[in-house]
Amino acid sequence: MPDQPIRQYIVSQEAVKRGFIMGTIGMVVVILAIFVLMNLRSQGQYQALDDSQHQALLTEAEGRLSGFELLDDGAARVDIDHAMQLVVERGVDLTFAPPAAESEEESAILASVDGGAVYGAQCAACHQATGMGVPGAFPPVAGHVGDLYAADPDYLIQVVLYGLQGPIMVDGTTYNGLMPALGQLSDADVAALLNFTITEWGDADDLGDAFSPFEPDDVEAQRELGWSGTDVHERRGELELD
Ligand code: HEC
Repeated sequence: MPDQPIRQYIVSQEAVKRGFIMGTIGMVVVILAIFVLMNLRSQGQYQALDDSQHQALLTEAEGRLSGFELLDDGAARVDIDHAMQLVVERGVDLTFAPPAAESEEESAILASVDGGAVYGAQCAACHQATGMGVPGAFPPVAGHVGDLYAADPDYLIQVVLYGLQGPIMVDGTTYNGLMPALGQLSDADVAALLNFTITEWGDADDLGDAFSPFEPDDVEAQRELGWSGTDVHERRGELELD
């Protein structure tokens, strides 16, 4: 037997061929993928319009504006009566609304709140529907809020917004309870309920001209204090009511 050269492959010839083919296919796939990715970014769509299409779009827009007349130079003309009509229909945003309008709006909101209902829901459980309170536990508001108003109207707002904690004396009776803060009530609710407590049991009559009803703005102004019931008690001390 003649000597045959011994060829040894670590990998078979078949495998080398297969590897070459797979490698080539792989490269093509990668190149294709890169190409696709490069073109994936959204490009937006543009459409060239010829003159008649352009005119048609303008006419359609004109139709939507209704009542505007397109002039040859591209400007638009609108009939003043029609413009006023559009203002009436669609409303107009007046950025220079006079300040009076805002307080009128506030007053309208205030007028829509039933102060008696708010008192019934938020205060009557403790101070009673009669406003007489419970001696030794809950001080009266009837016949007492007028004195507090005369000392400082804002104090009444502060009691409602921040509550009250600490010993007080009302009509010779001592109270040392805790009134919860009711700051979650809206400005209009607080104003309306205080107006109710002052007018309902005759306090307003005693005050006469000294009483001018609370406005929501008065309540809002007290919110920035960020007080606690103890702070309100301290303020009460300054009023020298006892
Ligand atoms: C959970 C019971 C409770 C509720 C609800 C409550 N109060 Fe009071 N209120 C008290 C107590 C108790 C005091 C006395 C606190 C103290 O002793 O320091 C008080 C004190 C007051 C005072 C101060 C009296 C003073 O002489 O300084 C006013 C005004 C008042 N309440 C009004 C109201 C109004 C208006 C509401 C409803 C928005 C209300 N309270 C809801 C329990 C309550």
